[in-house]
Amino acid sequence: MTKDRKLIIAGNWKMNKSVAEASDLVTTLKRDLANVKEVDLVVCPPFTALSDVSRVILDSNIRLGAQNMSEHGNGAYTGEISAQMLKEFSVRYVILGHSERRQYQAESDELISRKAHAAHAAALKPIVCIGETLEQRESGQMEAVLATQLKGSLAGLSHQQMEETVLAYEPVWAIGTGKTATTEQAQSAHAFIRGVLATLFDETVARRVRIQYGGSVKANNARELMEQPDVDGALVGGAALEARSFTEIVTNSI
Ligand code: PGA
Repeated sequence: MTKDRKLIIAGNWKMNKSVAEASDLVTTLKRDLANVKEVDLVVCPPFTALSDVSRVILDSNIRLGAQNMSEHGNGAYTGEISAQMLKEFSVRYVILGHSERRQYQAESDELISRKAHAAHAAALKPIVCIGETLEQRESGQMEAVLATQLKGSLAGLSHQQMEETVLAYEPVWAIGTGKTATTEQAQSAHAFIRGVLATLFDETVARRVRIQYGGSVKANNARELMEQPDVDGALVGGAALEARSFTEIVTNSI
């Protein structure tokens, strides 16, 4: 499959895996995905496993991502992790504004935008998550919700920074539920998002930004999703917790 934008497939391990389990998983991925050049591969373990995972993937084609970070630089912010700290482990990407954080930690678009600026200032690439709930979709608010999230979370980014930002469209109703958006639903949301990017930035930026789909991506639906013209990768939760299913998602997407 050929697309101008390189696919990016990231595993979001969420609050799972001991350090030993994380090392085992990434050791297997490193072996099984060693020949993959067509896709940017990212794993996002919990903070506690970043150090060990980082060591395993040195000199491999797998890049490291974190699942969150503070909007502040080092200082008196008990319990927080700064971009500077992530850099120590050669972290390249950071997931921002995942719907679970929007829901359980009440993260706002404004906060996510501050984190995105802090990430770029440290040369980390944010993976900014957006997505509507089932209620919002069914009441016809999907486009308004996505537009608001995009405008707020990406506020003030330069064109260059935006091009280095990855977006993840994750309909909340599809996360961890086994309900994947149909390929048509995914494509139409992604095309809408690209249209909003053209308004907020310009056509060139909109054409260059990679938009991942997330929400119950599995080996058996990855290919048809990745074939959609505006789907440029996947953010994978449950199926990223096992080497075999993550590897199959990647190989089925190429
Ligand atoms: P899921 O999670 O693949 O388990 O649905 C996706 C995500 O939350 O990023």
